[in-house]
Amino acid sequence: METVAIDEINASESLKDLDAIRVKYIGKKGKLTDISKVMRHLSNEERPQLGQAMNQFKDNFNTALEAHKEKLEEQALAEKLASEKIDVTLPGKQPLRGSRHIITQIMEEIEDLFIGMGYQVIEGPEVETDSYNFEKMNLPKNHPARDMQDTFYIDEETLLRTHTSPVQARTMEEHDFEKDGPLKMISPGKVFRRDTDDATHSHQFHQIEGLVVDKNITLADLKGTLLQFVQALFGEDREIRLRPSYFPFTEPSVEVDVSCFKCGGEGCNVCKQTGWIEILGSGVVHPDVLEMSGIDSTQYSGFAFGLGQERVAMLKYNIDDIRHFYQNDLRFLSQFRGGDN
Ligand code: PHE
Repeated sequence: METVAIDEINASESLKDLDAIRVKYIGKKGKLTDISKVMRHLSNEERPQLGQAMNQFKDNFNTALEAHKEKLEEQALAEKLASEKIDVTLPGKQPLRGSRHIITQIMEEIEDLFIGMGYQVIEGPEVETDSYNFEKMNLPKNHPARDMQDTFYIDEETLLRTHTSPVQARTMEEHDFEKDGPLKMISPGKVFRRDTDDATHSHQFHQIEGLVVDKNITLADLKGTLLQFVQALFGEDREIRLRPSYFPFTEPSVEVDVSCFKCGGEGCNVCKQTGWIEILGSGVVHPDVLEMSGIDSTQYSGFAFGLGQERVAMLKYNIDDIRHFYQNDLRFLSQFRGGDN
């Protein structure tokens, strides 16, 4: 019986089976109990022999049972560990990383550049008065140049600004040369026009205004500043060209072209075979504009410029449609992660 019982123990595959085997042999109604029932039919000599044999069996049975139980428990633990194993080398779930919008990146890049040249960054309101947006910029009511900048009116005297130039007037009015020294500022922000939206126009876009006012500021200062700006943004080898233009608030007024950064000036599709790309409007601040903002134009002079951020981004990254900036398509936006953004 002992060999059979121990084989049974060793063959059992679960703790439950093992317990059933224990009950079957040494349980209250088990085989050992059955055997002990014959005890009283035995002689005095035989009885201790059987008793001894039974104890022997019980010892061996229990030893085998314990040993096998331990083995099964170890197996179960090993299986559990294997099934719960975590492979720490597997790639984790990547959180979707955002980035600053390309227009914000351009804006910050330009801000850093001008802050490095000692400019302050000033913000102005997007809802502006007719007076600041037009009149103080030398565009009296009924001035024909207003047509080019038709916009959204809140009432007769209040509108969504058409350019960042009104911040020029706001800044000049507040400026105290005695106390603050020369005025050097840039002003980035949203502007609005009643443009029909197409590949290069949008009813809302971004500009950066620049204004420097001090004694003896000339067109030469403007040219030097813009050359530095353009080379930092588009590459060391860039050159600039000033072309006569017209803005009511500057005299003289110039359009600034940059030598094509794709072909280097030989002519290609980006510069439309001319070798030059127009990037901004600028000029020497009109004396009337200075006077209207309380600055003595016989003592002070200045230069101003205004550039479109979308235009700069489109040129720099060869983007063919302004509407990409506002559609929030991640396939577009995530191409411009840039640095630590
Ligand atoms: N405000 C002009 C525009 O929106 C740009 C400009 C700014 C031109 C400053 C000259 C000087 O077109």
